[in-house]
Amino acid sequence: MSSQYQFDVLIVGSGASGLNLALELADFARVGVITKSELHESNTYYAQGGIAAVLDEHDSVQSHVNDTLDAGAGLCDEDVVRFIVEHGREAIDKLAAYGVEFTTQKDGNGDLEYHLTREGGHSHRRVVHVADATGKAVETTMEERVREAANVTIFEHHNAVDLWCDRDVHGRSKRVTGLHALNTKTGEVRAFSAPFVVLATGGVSKVYLYTSNPDICTGDGIAMAWRAGCRVANMEFTQFHPTCLYHPQAKSFLVSEAVRGEGGLLKRADGSRFMDDFDERGELAPRDIVARAIDFEMKRLGQECMYLDISHKGEAFIQKHFPMIFANTKKFGFDMSKEPLPVVPAAHYTCGGVMIDKRGQTDVAGLYAIGEVTYTGLHGASRMASNSLLECLVYSTSAANDIRDRLDQTKLKTQSLPPETPTWDESKVTGSDEQVVISHNWDELRRFMWDYVGIVRTDKRLARARTRIDMLQAEIIEYYGNKRLTGDLLELRNLAVCAELIIHAAQARKESRGLHSTLDYPHTNDITGLSPTVLMPKRYPRKKG
Ligand code: FAD
Ligand code: SIN
Repeated sequence: MSSQYQFDVLIVGSGASGLNLALELADFARVGVITKSELHESNTYYAQGGIAAVLDEHDSVQSHVNDTLDAGAGLCDEDVVRFIVEHGREAIDKLAAYGVEFTTQKDGNGDLEYHLTREGGHSHRRVVHVADATGKAVETTMEERVREAANVTIFEHHNAVDLWCDRDVHGRSKRVTGLHALNTKTGEVRAFSAPFVVLATGGVSKVYLYTSNPDICTGDGIAMAWRAGCRVANMEFTQFHPTCLYHPQAKSFLVSEAVRGEGGLLKRADGSRFMDDFDERGELAPRDIVARAIDFEMKRLGQECMYLDISHKGEAFIQKHFPMIFANTKKFGFDMSKEPLPVVPAAHYTCGGVMIDKRGQTDVAGLYAIGEVTYTGLHGASRMASNSLLECLVYSTSAANDIRDRLDQTKLKTQSLPPETPTWDESKVTGSDEQVVISHNWDELRRFMWDYVGIVRTDKRLARARTRIDMLQAEIIEYYGNKRLTGDLLELRNLAVCAELIIHAAQARKESRGLHSTLDYPHTNDITGLSPTVLMPKRYPRKKG
């Protein structure tokens, strides 16, 4: 038994991008927010360091643009970078107006100003933050505002399955008209329809065995958009965060880059420093350089981790700046005010994703994407710290403006509603007889992605990964066609699609650049490497340009 839900705008995902969009639209549209766990559960909630924006009088838009271009290793779209950076102050003002209480300090005149921290790649202090738990403050404040909004209906524990689209005679998607979503509490698949659907589903770092991300980050939006016929770009550029706590129970707990920004030093087990051997910016080099340096030293010395030491700053300083990290690492038995923390890199951020324009529009009419699920051109081959939340905020506002114009123009609210999404047909499927197939494939996928498509790649490793993903894909597609839906099955299906996209993109890039590092092509190719890797549905890989 399925039910039909109709909205003006359907938003899939409730992180910073989804919730900001909902708030922007709430006054003039009927908005449905579909989210697969509780409303707050998202990457956003766990963000630590902060949000990059030009707020200091000695800083400039040009400087933020230059740093971003530099970190992006020649692959950023400069026009997009400028567009986002120019809207930084406006985005922060909006969050403050929602009620986010950013950390402040007294300026020279005794007036309060934002405390700005520093992170890798930034040549100025420009990261506004709420101590070391910025994401929690942003997410919970927006959650409060969204729950108050009269026009917004929230569907928690609803896992979007696939988009529903009008198709042309060749079977290509013309326009999105809705989607199906599995209520994971009841097992019911519900049908939703809307003239505008927005994917705000985050990245796919869960495709790797070790990740700083929560369980929800399984690339669902990228896979759904791909299946609907959208182009996807730059999937080879997975960002590995250099410093996650090394502890069997810590599930890759992140130790913010701001710890290095405030003076933390990376050391070997014998206490010697090593970052200066790799980059003149030392601990504050862009992330890809720091993660590779740690990986290199671990492999060279045969050690399981490196160490991050900020103990020289003393307990009062550490408690003031990093209260959450201090308390959490204490739970695992470490006192960072007295000893270095053991750290390892882990998959952290998806720089590639669904291709969109500056309004957030994808290749399918009516379908938008915003936030980490997208490729905008901001990050190029490596994202600079704290640029992600900024991108989420700027693009959700931009998409809201575009949707508002279109709703006004066509008066879709009252006249041309999209056709109803058909009821989900479960007549030919059976319940899962062997759940172990799903759990085994999950584990296998994440392990070979870590081993063969990780921080340093080779042709041989990528070929091995491709053979394995082809086999897994065949099994998963067959299983999906015959079994009743579960949340795990949906996520596995999407992880497999994204793994395939990552492998294909990595195989297409015959050079090392930014986050994509391969021993077979160690050099950066200044002529042919300068365009994004654009994957076309069913006909990949193909390069743009
Ligand atoms: P998310 O916040 O990941 O939200 C995705 C939403 O989509 C979730 O609600 C999820 O449940 C939902 N969803 C996914 N699939 C489905 C589906 N099929 N159906 C229904 N709902 C679905 N960036 C910074 O700029 N500064 C930082 O300091 C920073 N620190 C970070 C620290 C950590 C530990 C992590 C993991 C990331 C950090 N990042 C930081 C990155 C940043 O947090 C994310 O890139 C950003 O929050 C992404 O926001 P989003 O709205 O695009 O997606
Ligand atoms: C961190 O605090 O180190 C994470 C910042 C980011 O991912 O941008």
